[in-house]
Amino acid sequence: MSEQLIISGGEKNDKYQTLLQQLPALMDEQVDNVANMSNLVAALKQTFGFFWVGFYRVQADELVLGPFQGPIACTRIKKGHGVCGVSWLEERTMVVPNVHEFPGHIACSDQSKSEIVVPLFKAGGLVAVLDVDSDEFATFDEVDKIQLEKILEWFSAYY
Ligand code: SME
Repeated sequence: MSEQLIISGGEKNDKYQTLLQQLPALMDEQVDNVANMSNLVAALKQTFGFFWVGFYRVQADELVLGPFQGPIACTRIKKGHGVCGVSWLEERTMVVPNVHEFPGHIACSDQSKSEIVVPLFKAGGLVAVLDVDSDEFATFDEVDKIQLEKILEWFSAYY
């Protein structure tokens, strides 16, 4: 795998393109999905400096904390609870410009102000969600939604 992650300047779309080109080199089909999830969240954290980025995985009737980068976080989330739980329930990406206005938002950190949660599908089923938190309001938009959905669709093969 490559040892150095190249981070482009410019608009965030440019950063996503540069990241996408390098992601295959960071993945390893021979190892378990924890290793690949770990490198994916690390590459996102390095590229964008997100406050918190990580996976919650479906385990029985709840989401359980997976590989992440950032401050400590809550371990379990029920279906329909918080932004992650609603994303799981409704099987869709949630873009939340102000977490204080989201009913039932789970505040793992009081520094978190906006959030995007993107589902990961494998063989037609939702197996995990990628949660990205920002310490500023309105960080995420349609560009993040499109690009993160694209990344997760591609990443599904390594999960
Ligand atoms: N805020 C999330 C919980 C996870 S932490 O942000 C890492 C939610 O409401 O689902």
